[in-house]
Amino acid sequence: MNIFGSEDRGEFIVTPWTVEGEVDYNKLVEKFGTNLIDDRLMERFIKAAGESHHLLRRRIFFSHRDLDKILDDWENGRGFFLYTGRGPSGPMHIGHIIPFYFTKWLQDNFKVNVYIQLTDDEKFLEESRGLTLEDATKWSYENMLDIIAVGFNPDKTFIFQDTEYIKNMYPLALKVARKINFSWVRAVFGFTHETNIGLIFYPALQIVPALFEKKRCLIPAAIDQDPYWRIQRDIAESLGYYKTAAIHSKFLPPLTGPAGKMSASRPESAIYLYDDAKTVRKKIWLAYSGGQPTVELHRKLGGNPEVDVAFQWLYFFFEPDDAKVKKLEEDYRAGKILSGEMKNILIEKVIEFLEKHQERREEAKELIHLFKYDGELAREMWKKIHQ
Ligand code: TRP
Repeated sequence: MNIFGSEDRGEFIVTPWTVEGEVDYNKLVEKFGTNLIDDRLMERFIKAAGESHHLLRRRIFFSHRDLDKILDDWENGRGFFLYTGRGPSGPMHIGHIIPFYFTKWLQDNFKVNVYIQLTDDEKFLEESRGLTLEDATKWSYENMLDIIAVGFNPDKTFIFQDTEYIKNMYPLALKVARKINFSWVRAVFGFTHETNIGLIFYPALQIVPALFEKKRCLIPAAIDQDPYWRIQRDIAESLGYYKTAAIHSKFLPPLTGPAGKMSASRPESAIYLYDDAKTVRKKIWLAYSGGQPTVELHRKLGGNPEVDVAFQWLYFFFEPDDAKVKKLEEDYRAGKILSGEMKNILIEKVIEFLEKHQERREEAKELIHLFKYDGELAREMWKKIHQ
């Protein structure tokens, strides 16, 4: 399905490992048991933040759990904290980084702590990826630079790699793990008798950071990660913590067409954060379009913005101005804007975005020690968190 929420076009699958077909987000909310963010909640959220964000207005972050309780806690001074993460399986693309930009916006406006988990263990254990532990460590470092480049406040942000920080998480991971039996994770994640036992334990480790503070946690992430939060919510209170809240995003459509998620196995489907201007031009130029086969027909019949990937990307993230986006949509439908023109508008935006990001990524190499703690420092951090 497209980001406008048009009707179902058939089968789709969303799990933490697979996104296939055209996702029907309304059906997904029903299936996962989450809630759509209604207008009232959105307005309340924007009011508390003191600023609006197009990812919210356009319902790219469209679904939630307990967001209202986060706002209650915020309003009565109890506060909350943010947690998100990244599986370091390779280079990051634009779809991966958008939730981090949104997380930074949340941090800036609510002035709260952010914990960012890099799950090198998880990506190593996913055998089909064929990664060595060394590969996962290398990608943790590379991905961390991209995450720091987003601009998180070093005084309020902690980025950690599981294999390094494990000593500090292990006691809590054990408490979590003892509450979860095999049939439960098998049902939630579809594990089989062939699944390696590392993956069977892993959910405990993705749950732990949602218990890092004795405050309510808010997790901004794509909706495919929700199954972990469901388990956290079932066990958190019995361990003396809050059930986590979550705010879920849709998937940025791949350049190759509206179905599925961008993937490393199809590099033409995504724009990587390291792509240069020439590559960006080429990839977007070849992107799936909602235009007509000829200019004459396009002028006459107009294009379809709902499947035009260039327009979708502008709507999703790259054109924050609502009036401009609306005009692009109308003019495209009316045949006044050609597919090539739409693509050129996006190309300029993406190149500008990447130039800035890449510059800050260079600077991040000097900043890494501000975000990352190991050894003694990590233990101190842990104690501080648990006071
Ligand atoms: N499992 C996620 C992935 O494969 C990584 C992750 C860990 C995560 N903790 C998270 C993502 C919290 C979002 C929020 O990418």
